[in-house]
Amino acid sequence: MTAPVLEARGLTKRYGRVVAIDGSDLSLYPGEILAVIGDNGAGKSSLIKALSGALIPDSGDILLDGKPVHFRTPMDARAAGIETVYQTLAVAPGLDIADNLFLGREQRKPGVLGSVFRMLDRSHMRDEAKRHMSELGVATLQNIGQAVESLSGGQRQAVAVARSAAFGSKVVILDEPTAALGVKEGNRVLQLIRDVRDRGLPVILISHNMPHVFEVADRIHIQRLGRRATVITPKSHSMSDAVAIMTGAADPPPEPAA
Ligand SMILES: Nc1ncnc2c1ncn2[C@@H]1O[C@H](COP(=O)(O)OP(=O)(O)OP(=O)(O)O)[C@@H](O)[C@H]1O
Ligand SMILES: [Mg+2]
Repeated sequence: MTAPVLEARGLTKRYGRVVAIDGSDLSLYPGEILAVIGDNGAGKSSLIKALSGALIPDSGDILLDGKPVHFRTPMDARAAGIETVYQTLAVAPGLDIADNLFLGREQRKPGVLGSVFRMLDRSHMRDEAKRHMSELGVATLQNIGQAVESLSGGQRQAVAVARSAAFGSKVVILDEPTAALGVKEGNRVLQLIRDVRDRGLPVILISHNMPHVFEVADRIHIQRLGRRATVITPKSHSMSDAVAIMTGAADPPPEPAA
């Protein structure tokens, strides 16, 4: 088997007496969509926050391309090629689509205009934003200068996913990207996720939506009580099997060979 792109070994994070993650493992392989499912409070968001530098684990190891990494901030993880869309959607509503895509990595004009006068290269960012959005088939976004607050929920999610796909060079992590979306918008975001994978980026997808998970996931990591209970696939198990393992009603099948 090929080596994982991203791996967590025995990650632990405590908040006082609350154990958010309790010795959790995770493996993400090249070219796959790995769904992470589990009950509320199972530690899914905490686990991916550790992988994306948003929290520093108390113990355990994170390996990117087989090498240990120690992210202190989300910027560290981004610089290493890991782009994350958090559960609390991180778009700036007052800014337009292009500005949102380049938020935190604005491009300056070439020469002294950029280096001395710090002038932003708006037309370049706008063209790039258009290219990224159309590359991902977001055809409904006619006007890249439209404020994100005037977009629908699905379009906002699309902007967030497009941003992660545009800048993630190794891994894209999405925490509940289809929550609160209608059927059509949810399906569009699912298609975006497939497109991201098909362009060669592995994706970690956290979701409570079992039909979505079973539709797009290559493998399904089941998180329970702060750690990985097991990994199944949509072929090996049914949705009700997954829910039974998630809730502890059924024993998990043995852990896959690491
Ligand atoms: N900053 C924090 N301070 C204290 N406790 C926290 C903090 N973050 C998470 N926890 C606790 O850690 C546990 C795991 O939370 P986490 O958000 O990772 O769960 P989750 O699996 O993402 O849940 P959900 O499905 O509801 O999003 C919960 O019991 C939660 O209350
Ligand atoms: Mg969560």
